[in-house]
Amino acid sequence: MHTRLDALDTLFCRYKVLVFRNQSLSTEELLRFGARWGTLIRHPMHAGLEAFPEIIELSNRGKAKDVNQHWHSDMTYNAAPPKLTMLYALEVPEVGGDTAFANQALAFESLSEGMRGVLSGLQAVHSAAGLARIYGEDPNKAPRAEHPVIRTHDQTGERALFVCRAFTERFVGWTREESGPLLEYLWQHSVRPEFQGRQQWQRGDLVMWDNRSLLHFAVHDHADEPRVIHRLQVEGETPH
Ligand code: SIN
Repeated sequence: MHTRLDALDTLFCRYKVLVFRNQSLSTEELLRFGARWGTLIRHPMHAGLEAFPEIIELSNRGKAKDVNQHWHSDMTYNAAPPKLTMLYALEVPEVGGDTAFANQALAFESLSEGMRGVLSGLQAVHSAAGLARIYGEDPNKAPRAEHPVIRTHDQTGERALFVCRAFTERFVGWTREESGPLLEYLWQHSVRPEFQGRQQWQRGDLVMWDNRSLLHFAVHDHADEPRVIHRLQVEGETPH
């Protein structure tokens, strides 16, 4: 029998982002909704709320720059990055503070057959060294993982480009110098404007996105206007 969750999952796999407007969820309700999609996982570097460690509070208070102001897919430096991330908006600026998304299935489809062939045989090293530097931790101890450069979605079979400027360091078996030019091309290609969409936040929005086939970027264009968002993540498969 199909449940409402199955119906939502079908929409989720098709559209990659679901937006539920005008929610008034307690933290427990947010956690319960998240847990219906799978096992909630903690972030290895951001501490969660004391009472709810799976929930991270993202707040720009006192910060000149959003730490997530870079194109990334969440936690690709883990062997099994989350399949989805949810954000719930508690406080939003009057203007700005969008989350931008870039569709990596479209990015893959629009590459030439020759380039797809080259990339299909490659794996890349992803690392949290950059994040470690931001948090004043030792980048040499930051988590690292290797993943295919072209990833196959475990539910739909759709293929997507799977590299990001924030975390992908080099191709496996290639030096950083050798990897740099091709990675630079892919980073630029992956966020072409025609692959992008934006979430323009309203208070009470609950947004979930498919971390297997999207990149995202927190746009910090709202200066000191408060933006407070709760975030959780659901465990994913090892990419293949
Ligand atoms: C994130 O990068 O996980 C958060 C994005 C945002 O704050 O818009």
